[in-house]
Amino acid sequence: MSNKMWGGRFASGPDAIMEEINASIGFDQRLFRQDIAGSIAHATMLAETGILTQQDRDSIIAGLAEVLEEIEGGSFTFSRALEDIHMNVESRLREKIGDAAGRLHTARSRNDQVATDFKLYVRDSIDTLVAQIRTLQLSLVNRAEQEAETIMPGFTHLQNAQPVTFGHHLLAYVEMLGRDAGRLLDGRKRLNESPLGSAALAGTPYPIDRQMTAEQLGFDRPTANSLDAVSDRDFILETLAAASICAMHLSRFAEEMVIWSSAQFGFVRLSDKFTTGSSIMPQKRNPDAAELVRAKIGRILGALTSLLVVMKGLPLAYSKDMQEDKEVAFDALDALSLSLAAMTGMVGDMVPHRERMRASAAAGFSTATDIADWLVREINIPFRDAHHITGQIVALAEQKNCGLEGLTIEDFKSIDDRIDSRIHKVLTVEASVASRQSYGGTAPANVLAQAARWKSELTGEPHEPRSLTKRKRGGHGDGGVE
Ligand code: ARG
Repeated sequence: MSNKMWGGRFASGPDAIMEEINASIGFDQRLFRQDIAGSIAHATMLAETGILTQQDRDSIIAGLAEVLEEIEGGSFTFSRALEDIHMNVESRLREKIGDAAGRLHTARSRNDQVATDFKLYVRDSIDTLVAQIRTLQLSLVNRAEQEAETIMPGFTHLQNAQPVTFGHHLLAYVEMLGRDAGRLLDGRKRLNESPLGSAALAGTPYPIDRQMTAEQLGFDRPTANSLDAVSDRDFILETLAAASICAMHLSRFAEEMVIWSSAQFGFVRLSDKFTTGSSIMPQKRNPDAAELVRAKIGRILGALTSLLVVMKGLPLAYSKDMQEDKEVAFDALDALSLSLAAMTGMVGDMVPHRERMRASAAAGFSTATDIADWLVREINIPFRDAHHITGQIVALAEQKNCGLEGLTIEDFKSIDDRIDSRIHKVLTVEASVASRQSYGGTAPANVLAQAARWKSELTGEPHEPRSLTKRKRGGHGDGGVE
């Protein structure tokens, strides 16, 4: 049998293999809500402009509402012979309301239809992802506020560099996620033009009102060029690019979770809810959720690569190649959403081991820079010389097998006798982080100010910075739980 939707000039139906390669219903059925919303907007406009009778419009809209109910309720049977979601919906509509269903496709084509449906879907996904990013940011900000005075080693090259506060470290991810949300929302603005009414590629002779359908579907305006409208997939490419960057950030954070939760670091304990045991090694707590988040970038970036390759070299306007846009995009958007949810869960449940982080921060002569800075500030030694003197001090501590805090004033004077006992003040990790009050620096006071700024931004209500607790070293247990 030839296809009843377009088989007028076809004598036979498609080869089985043809049907298999051609059909998209297996994945594009996800677009049913957007497809039906687009059809309702289109039918409404056709009646408003006199192209369709009010009676036909009413039966089309009522029929579409029933189809929607059937799909939502799970009683709808999708047919591969009907290729895609557009023809599955229309065919069912015809079964329900008869010939009027055939008038719905006036002044449109599946080409503008699929572009419209997919844009609506991607727009919804952006909104969901941004909301999820905001949730993760807020939970990080709350954590950062609690950990504003928790000291951990700051790393460069994954070598102990200078002490930082754990709150500051967490807020670094809040900044990244803020840019991620910004990128998604920026793409959303460009996405928000309606392709509907561009028809197959050239527009239509019917006196349609594209402004009306655009408005009804929440678009800012109709697209201005019909060829571009049906062949543009920038909106998903941009979204996948933004998603890839966000997934890269989550991957870095996940990697840190893996490192921090290892026995060797022991900075945090991840909860039972986000770890697994080993079937053979009873002591194991594997950070599986973090590892999987670390890996998801693979398929998300894969989707971007895949679609860019599909699109490159395609002549205008629509080509069936473009049907390959959906599966990878759905998969990538799902993966990012799941990663954000998993990260939010892990951040909420992780227990920081504050003493352990502090001890690690103090190791490796991490306040050496503070000594050099003190020499510059207090005795006006040029930084390059101060750096050299500090190097000798570190060597002495190494030789004496003690930390910088363990050196006596005589030790310091043996290197440079301009040094006096005030130097001891700058040797602790607490003094080190507290001194870094330059804008954007790690000082606890800065962390509290930044946390308040983010809270105000994320909640829309003004928040004042919390005051410092003057937390005493060792006075705070080890994160409370164990
Ligand atoms: N299923 C198609 C897609 O996803 C819809 C558009 C088909 N258009 C066409 N002329 N065959 O791209």
